Amino acid sequence: MTADATLSHGHIAAHDHIAFAERWSAHNYHPLPVVLAHGEGAWVTDVDGRRYLDFLAGYSALNFGHRHPDIVAAATAQLDRLTLTGRAFHHDQFGLFCRELAELTGTEMVLPSNSGAEAVESAVKIARKWAYQVKGVPDGTAEIVVAGENFHGRTTTIVSFSTDSVARNEFGPFTPGFKIVPYGDIDALRSAMTENSAAVLLEPIQGEAGVVVPPKGYLAEVRQLCDDNNTLFIADEVQSGLARTGTTLALDHEGIRADMYTLGKALGGGILPVSAVVGRADVLGVLKPGEHGSTFGGNPLACAVGRAVIRLLETGEFQERSRELGAHLHSRLGELEGVAGFRGRGLWASVQIAEGRPTGRQVSEALAERGVLCKVAEANLRVAPPLVITREEIDFAVDAIAEVLR
Ligand SMILES: Cc1ncc(COP(=O)(O)O)c(C=O)c1O
Repeated sequence: MTADATLSHGHIAAHDHIAFAERWSAHNYHPLPVVLAHGEGAWVTDVDGRRYLDFLAGYSALNFGHRHPDIVAAATAQLDRLTLTGRAFHHDQFGLFCRELAELTGTEMVLPSNSGAEAVESAVKIARKWAYQVKGVPDGTAEIVVAGENFHGRTTTIVSFSTDSVARNEFGPFTPGFKIVPYGDIDALRSAMTENSAAVLLEPIQGEAGVVVPPKGYLAEVRQLCDDNNTLFIADEVQSGLARTGTTLALDHEGIRADMYTLGKALGGGILPVSAVVGRADVLGVLKPGEHGSTFGGNPLACAVGRAVIRLLETGEFQERSRELGAHLHSRLGELEGVAGFRGRGLWASVQIAEGRPTGRQVSEALAERGVLCKVAEANLRVAPPLVITREEIDFAVDAIAEVLR
């Protein structure tokens, strides 16, 4: 099989697609041997016509499922009008997108970008500038406190404050200015605060660490500690936000507000990368023309898609689905044999596979054979279905998990 076959649109076998990826792409992922060609709602179909229930939803990038008709319609309409301008000019989707996103999230100002990591980088830069200009921290000495086991993305600055050796090894030298404390340990956070603290950056629920929900009251204590120390609270809601946990923002469960939130994944409606920092106007307002930017950030297509996502979230339907179906999911996971425990919130969970059971990779391959796609990292099975999933589809997937773990 040569690459020329792709030009003739002939059928290419799954193993050939995989061979092309192996030969021609960098090996920074180890995907399951499934080659997808089509998606609709909670279901995807591979090149041989086999259907699978998507029980991962692109790590929350597909909260509304594959090709949600409202989002596709908004994207298609925008494709027919205007797709890209650069930020040298205004366009007729930008201001509306920013206003609607601020209103949805109860914030005052929006900085659009593309990937989640870019939003986190932007928040880090804003916090530092705020510390120098507003808090009066001496230039070059601002500190940001983060949590162990965090996942905020893959840039050199972000991996500088990761505790995952695989994400960090041989990528140094690293960016200074970060302090790492154990997640959920308020005393450790208190000890780490100094007069140079610009911000505390946390995931309200740690996604990649295995859907780790912090101890009750912890996030409210973080908020108080930040207030007491004139320090910003940045909530990274790239994965936890936009209805995944049953509320628009995961922090809403705690009844507290962050000074800045980073959003991504689902904001792109499963169509294209859209991310943003949203937060207080006096914080984001420290940025002046030329100090920060992105060619593609806030482009017309992204804004039109983002606006369609916001319209879906404004109804509250997806938040409610996540709460109600999440309760069902959790009760079903609670019945499973062969698990050492599970945790999560809403339609988001991590199941710890007990010792002596099949390995993570074996579990995900066996699930794929049964028509369920999900991610298993080591002995941790990640469950994050699209929020359009039905109760019956959840049962289908949990039954498959039960069978595989038995
Ligand atoms: C909490 C959190 N922040 C940031 C990111 C990075 O997002 P992206 O992969 O779009 O750069 C992720 C990705 O998984 C994430 O889970």
